[in-house]
Order: sequence, then structure tokens, then C-alpha cells
Amino acid sequence: MNCAIFGTYPQHRQRRMRTTPAMRSLVRETELNPAHLVLPMFVKHGDKVRAPVASMPGVFQLSKDELVREAQAAFNDGVPAGPLFGIPEKKDEVATEAYADNGITQQAVRLLKKEVPELLVITDICLCEYMSHGHCGLIDKSGNTPVILNDPTLRLLSKTAISHAAAGADILAPSDMMDGRIGAIRSALDDSGFAETPIMSYAAKFASSFYGPFRDAAHSAPEFGDRKTYQMDPANAREAVREVGMDINEGADIVMVKPALAYLDIIHKVKDTFGYPTAAYSVSGEYSMIKAAAQNGWIDERTVTLEALNSIKRAGADIIITYSARDAANWIKADR
Ligand code: PBG
Repeated sequence: MNCAIFGTYPQHRQRRMRTTPAMRSLVRETELNPAHLVLPMFVKHGDKVRAPVASMPGVFQLSKDELVREAQAAFNDGVPAGPLFGIPEKKDEVATEAYADNGITQQAVRLLKKEVPELLVITDICLCEYMSHGHCGLIDKSGNTPVILNDPTLRLLSKTAISHAAAGADILAPSDMMDGRIGAIRSALDDSGFAETPIMSYAAKFASSFYGPFRDAAHSAPEFGDRKTYQMDPANAREAVREVGMDINEGADIVMVKPALAYLDIIHKVKDTFGYPTAAYSVSGEYSMIKAAAQNGWIDERTVTLEALNSIKRAGADIIITYSARDAANWIKADR
């Protein structure tokens, strides 16, 4: 071997360190911790509603009472909650319920902070679930092709953020991918007395087809076009680093890469470059693929899920957002 490392270390005796579970634990480099797994949840209007999401077995749209039960269970499992996604009563062209004081997310956060006060609650700041057209921003339809407007959208995002902070959200997670939103939201929060509320920025969010099942769950598929004018091109890694750098400059406290499994190189680059608290969102499609294969008996859900989560952590994620958070937390504890 001409590589220096092979000249220095005796490569022919690696298996000595793999002989028993105790030996393997002794030299294990990556450890999953339930406190670093975060459970996304969907909340909708009504009472005693627990509506299954067909493409995401084990995930439900919950009314507030059911949300509290699920959140209490997550807390008992040692898992934080979020991002919390609201499904509004009515959608319109200005996303009214996104920033309404009595919007579904605002009501849910108030109730969660009352009923499970120690649970960490992260909310999603975006407009797509609340827009009749399903896009993440305001739209100008005057030309031949509709344009998603950047700066006018920032005002609505800031209003949404303030309303979530006022309801008691512990961390705000903007997922819209408009330029300048972190700076706009940060200064709006600071000016409104919420200087202590942190921002987890969906900093490098790619225009991914892995979001398909989520859009069923949140009823947020765009009515026309796609999100490629605001979410990132999956081919770009250097641009992801720039996006993250901008968000850090604008005041992000935690930066996120999304999706996770197909973007491990981005997670690694982001963690290596900035050393910031780094989150990775293991998105709906990643979850559904494992569930579907497991339901067919083609793979083992438990070991494959833990292996996937491990790889995300190993790549550099400190925090992993995953629909498997509760199951994974319990598997990790049982394996210890
Ligand atoms: C909203 C949003 C999306 C997801 C999180 N926030 C969907 C999208 O951008 O279309 C996806 C989450 C998942 O797939 O699990 N902007």
C-alpha cells in the first residue's frame, strides 16, 4: 500500500475488535440517542380524530386531543416533538390560517405547552399547507407563468413565526426556502420580544421527490408547477454550503439538511464546514420505502431503520427528524 496509514497500522488484525458484543460496543464510534430523534406530527381541526396517512403506515393526522396523547407518549419515550404541521380548515391565496392567533398550529402549541410542559415543541414555519395553490409563497399570476414572490412572502412568514412564538413554541423551523427568510424572521422575532426563541433553519432543502407521502399527509402538493424555483437542485453540493452559510449569517441557531439518506454527503460537508448544530430530516419517502419493504417481508424494519439512522448520525447529524422516532427510541433503549 502506498497510503501512509497502511504502512503505520497493522491492517491484518481488525477482527480482534469484533469478537463479542462487549468488544464491539467498546470501539463503537457512533451512538444513537433518543433525545436527538425528533418526531414530526400533523394536527388538524376536530375532536378524537386519528386519521391514518395511507402512504405512511403508523403516521396519523391528529386532532388536538389526540395530539396531546401522542406528544405525551413521545415525551415518555424521551423524544422531542416536531416539526408540528397544521392542516387548516380553509386554504386561501394569502395563507390566513398560517398566522391566525387561533390557527390550528397556534391552538395546538398552546395546548401542548399546557398539558406536556416539559416536551420540546418545534413548529414548521411555512405557508404551503395554508395556500389554496399549495406553494410556499405568495404568487403573482399576472404573467404567462405564475411567479412565486420572494420578498412579499417574508412578511407573512415573519407573522407566522411571531404567532408560533407567542403560542409558546420552543423552536421555530422555517421550511419555505425563500431567500432572506432567516434574517427577516430573526429581526421580526427580536422586535416582538422573542429574542430568546431559536430558529432551526431548513437551510439546505432540496426539491426532492422523497416528499411525496408528506404532501398526502399535509395536503400540500402544489396545484401547478413544482418547487424547483425555490428548493435546491439535488445535483448541487457547493450551493448547499452557501445556503447554510447564509442562514447562519442571518441568525440560524440550528441548520438542517433535507432529505437525509440521499444527501449524506451534504450533511457531512455542512457539519465539517460550519461545526454548527446540524439537523437532518429523514423525510416521508425515506420512511415509506422502509415501511413498504418491511410490510412485504423484504427487509427487517427494526434493523434497517436503526442502520439508516446510524448512517445519518455518522455523516454528521446531531439531530435527526424522523417519523420512526418513537419506535427507534424504544429499540435503542432495548438494545442497550
Ligand atoms: C413544507 C414542507 C415539506 C416537508 C416539510 N415541510 C414538503 C415540501 O416542501 O413539499 C416535507 C417533509 C417530508 O417529506 O417528510 N414546505
